[in-house]
Amino acid sequence: MAVSIDLSGKCALVTGGSQGIGRGCGEWLARAGAAVALVARNGKNLDEVVQDIRRAGGRAEALPADLTEPGRTEWAVGETVQRLGALDFLVNVAGTARRSDPAETTDGDIDLSINLKVRAAVRLVKAAVPHMKARGGGSIVFTLGLAHVHTSVWHGSGCMSNGMLLPYKHQLARRVAPWNIRVNAVNPGVTETPRMTIQQQRIADLTGTSVDDVARDRLAAIPMGRFVRVDDVAKLVVFLCSDMGSYITGESITVDGGETNAVR
Ligand SMILES: NC(=O)c1ccc[n+]([C@@H]2O[C@H](COP(=O)([O-])OP(=O)(O)OC[C@H]3O[C@@H](n4cnc5c(N)ncnc54)[C@H](OP(=O)(O)O)[C@@H]3O)[C@@H](O)[C@H]2O)c1
Repeated sequence: MAVSIDLSGKCALVTGGSQGIGRGCGEWLARAGAAVALVARNGKNLDEVVQDIRRAGGRAEALPADLTEPGRTEWAVGETVQRLGALDFLVNVAGTARRSDPAETTDGDIDLSINLKVRAAVRLVKAAVPHMKARGGGSIVFTLGLAHVHTSVWHGSGCMSNGMLLPYKHQLARRVAPWNIRVNAVNPGVTETPRMTIQQQRIADLTGTSVDDVARDRLAAIPMGRFVRVDDVAKLVVFLCSDMGSYITGESITVDGGETNAVR
């Protein structure tokens, strides 16, 4: 008998769903049968993704919102439950492409990163957990990163917010495990998304080199010889949401073609 992942009847909220990794997660969850609600600020971009998912036969809703604004996280969870009927999966992807020199990181850099990546994610969790309890379980996924082990030193504030979520994820996993809610993090390496170009340009500006040089150096450090594709991350997220990951919680799983293994 063939093994497959079927998320029919399940409902997911994906932040950062208009492009990049979040879009990929939304599309793959929908492909697996889940109904998805996607959050981002730009409603036009979100609508395009939602239409694509619907054309492919999936169920999707657009929830345009700036998650750093007061009340928008609770609104997003409430709308998901109202429009889709329930909430089983919370996939936190929204983040900023900001890069900074660690020696010159500003309060503004820190606020931007932490308000979205940490504050909004924690508020979403708080609003989502009661709905997951009511469903008899759920899966929460954080999209973090590998800046703490990379040779590149230009992650600045983004690295801080990911670092803050690591112990939080661990604690949360222990706290909600009795309700069959699992909590995991995925750690992508350099992923081919719109932000990749922005980040590489920023690093080139900070180091006085070219984008091509930044990309070539980074690629040379990846044993599998290519950047991460959005699909590589999204498929892991689907796995972690599904029953295939039924006893995995509190974990951080790396998707980087062996890059950090090679660094170690
Ligand atoms: N790409 C990588 O190489 C990489 C590697 C490791 C980890 N990550 C992590 O993966 C996540 C996604 O990365 P990505 O490359 O896919 O990013 P991306 O292409 O820049 O997409 C970011 C998404 O977040 C949304 N967003 C940004 N600010 C928001 C806000 N205030 N409220 C609501 N939504 C907001 C954006 O839409 P709007 O602009 O319309 O709001 C967009 O949908 C990030 O958290 C990042 O730290 C990425």
